[in-house]
Amino acid sequence: MKIDTKIFGRLSGKEEAYLFTIQNSNGMIIKMSNYGGTVISILAPDRNGQFDDIVLGFDSLEDYLEQHPYIGTLVGRYANRIAGGRFYIDDREYRLAQNEGQNHLHGGLKGYDKILWDFNEYADQQRAGVMLSYRSFDMEEGYPGNLKLDVNFSLNDNNELTIEYTASTDANTHLNLTHHGYYNLNGGKYLIYDHELFINAGSYVETDKNLIPTGELIPLKGGAVDFRTMKPIGRDISKLENGYDHCYVLNKKAEGPELAARVNNPASGRIMEVYTTEPAIQFYSSNFLEGLNGKNNIEYRKHLALCLEAQHYPDSPNHPHFPSTLLKPGDIYKQTTIYKFLAE
Ligand code: GLA
Repeated sequence: MKIDTKIFGRLSGKEEAYLFTIQNSNGMIIKMSNYGGTVISILAPDRNGQFDDIVLGFDSLEDYLEQHPYIGTLVGRYANRIAGGRFYIDDREYRLAQNEGQNHLHGGLKGYDKILWDFNEYADQQRAGVMLSYRSFDMEEGYPGNLKLDVNFSLNDNNELTIEYTASTDANTHLNLTHHGYYNLNGGKYLIYDHELFINAGSYVETDKNLIPTGELIPLKGGAVDFRTMKPIGRDISKLENGYDHCYVLNKKAEGPELAARVNNPASGRIMEVYTTEPAIQFYSSNFLEGLNGKNNIEYRKHLALCLEAQHYPDSPNHPHFPSTLLKPGDIYKQTTIYKFLAE
């Protein structure tokens, strides 16, 4: 296992962002940056041992500094939407940036996707990776409490990318962290319609046209949104207005990470499994992707990739019957999410 560190580029304030190249003994290589905790590329083998880059990303830091839809980044403080950009804690109202119409999306104007994280890289026999750290200050993007955050990205010889999150606060706040990789197991050659998907969920979070939860959980009973049995993503996608952008409530039995989703790309034989400790997973079929020039000269367009974002339900602060995202002083927030790459 090894890791190599070099300068990726400079931000406008001249701070240096770093590029880490993490390699395991099977030849799998992950490139990532401490800018936004961004995973830039993942080289994974197909059934013939052929490596291909299976995540979307850009060549240079400059591209990442332009507007883009969270391609490969960390997302926080609150991944997904908060209705009206506001919530209450102990009868006090907190107002957040309304950066998607009236609503708050993915942590606001300068979320964790745009932060230059402190880092500590490491490599040993078991794994290699980078520990990212950030102190998110009280009222940053409108959220109360100073937060201490650590996010550990590592690769091991089981071809697992593990992301472990730890956080603590000095005042009551809401927290919902995720990672927003855009995966195409065929190296981005075609749209994802031939990728088959299984999601280990019995229901999903009903939302309105702005993707804000109504408060209802809808049991899966067949139909376009049902992935309880593996099926090609392209089979029913045209039955939905833009594609998939749904929060699935996972079947949870234990405390530790459990299988949340499995993606199979028959053309290459590549398989990705997602394991998480989170109660839900957002499946997003890159419905709003367009007009971006990605690395390897690929033009990014609608339905080119899929995101499986482990998280809590959207807008939980405003739905007391959803699993709570409230973090209190003395509590430790922990999440483990694993992306495992196989080939058959
Ligand atoms: C998430 C959301 C989508 C979209 C993307 C970023 O997956 O659910 O609606 O906002 O992030 O473009």
